[in-house]
Amino acid sequence: MPIVGGNWKMNTDLASAKTLAASVAQWARTHNAAGHVEIAIFPPFVYLAEVARTLREAGSVVMLGAQDCYFEASGAFTGEISVSMLKDVGTQIVLTGHSERRHVLGESDAIINQKTRAVLDAGLECILCVGETLDQRNAGETDAVNERQVRAGLAGVTKEQMKRLTIAYEPVWAIGTGRTATPADAQQAHARIRAVVQSLFDATTAADLRIQYGGSVKGSNAVELFNEPDVDGGLIGGASLKSEEFCAILSAAIGSS
Ligand code: PGA
Repeated sequence: MPIVGGNWKMNTDLASAKTLAASVAQWARTHNAAGHVEIAIFPPFVYLAEVARTLREAGSVVMLGAQDCYFEASGAFTGEISVSMLKDVGTQIVLTGHSERRHVLGESDAIINQKTRAVLDAGLECILCVGETLDQRNAGETDAVNERQVRAGLAGVTKEQMKRLTIAYEPVWAIGTGRTATPADAQQAHARIRAVVQSLFDATTAADLRIQYGGSVKGSNAVELFNEPDVDGGLIGGASLKSEEFCAILSAAIGSS
């Protein structure tokens, strides 16, 4: 089953976050999404509890996601949010290694690995994001960068935990730029990532792993991307803030399932 995430980033306010969550929940109910596409939304931390309530009251299958976390359990880490706090307010899935965390906030592969393990150790689902910058792509380093980020991100993760992990391939040059990877480019990168996972674990783990594509996905290009054999859904930024556009992407995912 494909998985589609809506990463709201540092957008919305309390009222619009609740409205957006309610409209995704409504769409999921009327389109019988359960069993066809897994849906997660990732509001800013401060709106998680209220969005959790909105989804709960709607009896929704839409999962509540967090955009980041800290890997320590508790203590003197001013400004940080632990996985147990996220769980406490109903979070089911957490993003790690998003390109904005890597390239704007300066997170290293080692920190991303600690966060990924903290999420999985707490029993939650995790989406580990990887992807190359434009310079790296132009230098022919796409596969090497993805391989390094996948290997580092998954260090110490068990085969059992891999059942709760999704990888999002998000080429940095395609995020928020309106420039999307071609379906063939995405397919090639995804197949390579799956091969890396197979070498780290085994063929079944690799075959069962879902790999999302992210980077300027819209209603108009989702179908061709999701039709690629190794593209198992998408991680959506800008287009997830408009419920009609996000729901068009969800429809494309259902069509590809
Ligand atoms: P975008 O962002 O859809 O706005 O390109 C994708 C992401 O950052 O997950």
